[in-house]
Amino acid sequence: MKTLFNFKFNLQSGLALLFSGAVLCSFTMQHVAKKWDAPASAKSISNPVKTSASSISEGKNLYMKDCKSCHGAKGKGDGPKAENLDVSCKDFTKADFQKQSDGEIFWKITNGRDPMPTFKSKTEAEDRWNLVNYLRTLK
Ligand code: HEC
Repeated sequence: MKTLFNFKFNLQSGLALLFSGAVLCSFTMQHVAKKWDAPASAKSISNPVKTSASSISEGKNLYMKDCKSCHGAKGKGDGPKAENLDVSCKDFTKADFQKQSDGEIFWKITNGRDPMPTFKSKTEAEDRWNLVNYLRTLK
């Protein structure tokens, strides 16, 4: 009987612990997911692709192919896939986005953060800079 009691007790406290762990975990995840900062080292990576009509149009083509589904045709974060994601796709037209350096935006496109995919191996670095130059026209 004593062992049965102990087992029950352990099961109960075990479940309680598991439950509070899950609550704490989801709370922390939500908290952390709010802000996405590129590392300080990304800030000063300088853009080797000068902005020009051809760079912007290259960037736009890629954007329409690979980014529009989430980020929306005008970069307002309202693409058809956006509503199924837990995380906001951000609004590229806002000053809050545009105040980042080219290097930081490049770093985010390169590395991604789930559900934002990484484009490191899917694109050449030059294409990612063309994308940065295109995103600058959305402000
Ligand atoms: C599957 C949907 C999806 C696709 C496709 C996608 N993104 Fe994203 N993107 C996101 C989400 C969601 C975030 C926000 C991530 C976060 O905050 O953790 C994001 C964030 C970003 C950011 C950072 C925004 C900020 O406020 O700093 C940039 C830049 C970006 N995406 C560019 C692109 C580009 C360029 C492409 C195409 C080459 C692309 N994304 C494709 C979903 C997507």
